[in-house]
Amino acid sequence: MTESRIRPLASAKALQFTESVIREMTRFAAQHDAVNLAQGFPDFPAPTEIKEAAVEAVRADVNQYAITWGAKPFRDAIAERYRAIYGMAVDPERNLTVTCGSTEAMMSTMLALVDPGDEVIVFEPFYENYGPDTILSGAVPRYVQLHEPDWGIDEGELEKAFNNKTRAIIINTPNNPTGKVYSREELQAIATLCQRWGVIAITDEIYEYIIYGGAEHVPLASLDGMSERTVTLNSLSKTYSVTGWRVGWAIASEEATSAIRKVHDFLTVGAAAPLQAAAAAALHLPESYYEKLARDYEVRRDILSESLERAGFRCYTPKGAYYIMTDISSFGFSDDVTFARHLIETIGVAAVPGSSFYHRPEDGAQKLRFTFCKKKATLDEAATRLGKLVAT
Ligand SMILES: Cc1ncc(COP(=O)(O)O)c(C=O)c1O
Repeated sequence: MTESRIRPLASAKALQFTESVIREMTRFAAQHDAVNLAQGFPDFPAPTEIKEAAVEAVRADVNQYAITWGAKPFRDAIAERYRAIYGMAVDPERNLTVTCGSTEAMMSTMLALVDPGDEVIVFEPFYENYGPDTILSGAVPRYVQLHEPDWGIDEGELEKAFNNKTRAIIINTPNNPTGKVYSREELQAIATLCQRWGVIAITDEIYEYIIYGGAEHVPLASLDGMSERTVTLNSLSKTYSVTGWRVGWAIASEEATSAIRKVHDFLTVGAAAPLQAAAAAALHLPESYYEKLARDYEVRRDILSESLERAGFRCYTPKGAYYIMTDISSFGFSDDVTFARHLIETIGVAAVPGSSFYHRPEDGAQKLRFTFCKKKATLDEAATRLGKLVAT
């Protein structure tokens, strides 16, 4: 056997990360018939209007490739919404790329704008995809802590993370897993550092409309001088409860957009054409749709946090997104993965081990994340099952 045959089949890049813990928990939950409060997908229907628009598009034979960077009516609808809500000038011809979910938008952006060896700042705890995104683009992650209990930023620590090698910073607001909604002041501090160091901000804003108690969502790109150096990522998944449709977008400067479009084209060619037609209809839903979305999620948040607290978890109350990060130290388990398995196998409820949101697993070893993007009946069933748990 030659030397080359001894090489593992997986590439050095693929060997550096594991499969998604979140999606693994979902499969494990299904095996044990557990209530799945692990992966963030709704178990209630999507709005009728957009399902009808999708059916109509298929019937009308919208079956072939859309323009690689997105069907024009959908791009026009996105641009119009950012203008109407935030006063942002987005040119649908020059600043927009429609992608297969914000997941692909993030990967295409990283591959298009980041070079091997560049540093990318990631706030921690982080949505688990950002780790593999960084590795696949050859970047070196620099972690900056969000400090409990309010997940605040220490500006001194943030400042220290910037240097001549810093190429980009990833921000996710409203945040998964913490529920943090970055304040205008925090975003301004980030913007000032990006401008000082010539750094690109990549902001994942897919929970933009899911905010509570008067919190305000501020797109980083809307701050003075930031539209040129920000890539804003978003998708239909969470706002319209269609995580399986895989339709998202990236908004960026003309120069960044032409690089993102090239990578996107060769990665996927484009997002599903009939679903892009339905997406244009989604973006035309009335404002009352977004208000109700947030209100309904606030009720679900309160139901789940009450049952978690009753069962012995300490909850970090989220201001946005649809997850509750919890402290599990009162249960006396050595680590989060053991506890998550116990919860699925013996209690029948699935959650995500906190360690999957930290680069050092021990930092999340006494945490679990639960989602509340579920019907009231599902949350009630979870509450009944959690009632069997015994805190020490
Ligand atoms: C912060 C964050 N970004 C991106 C995604 C994936 O989004 P999409 O379905 O648009 O690819 C998720 C899904 O849970 C998420 O929580």
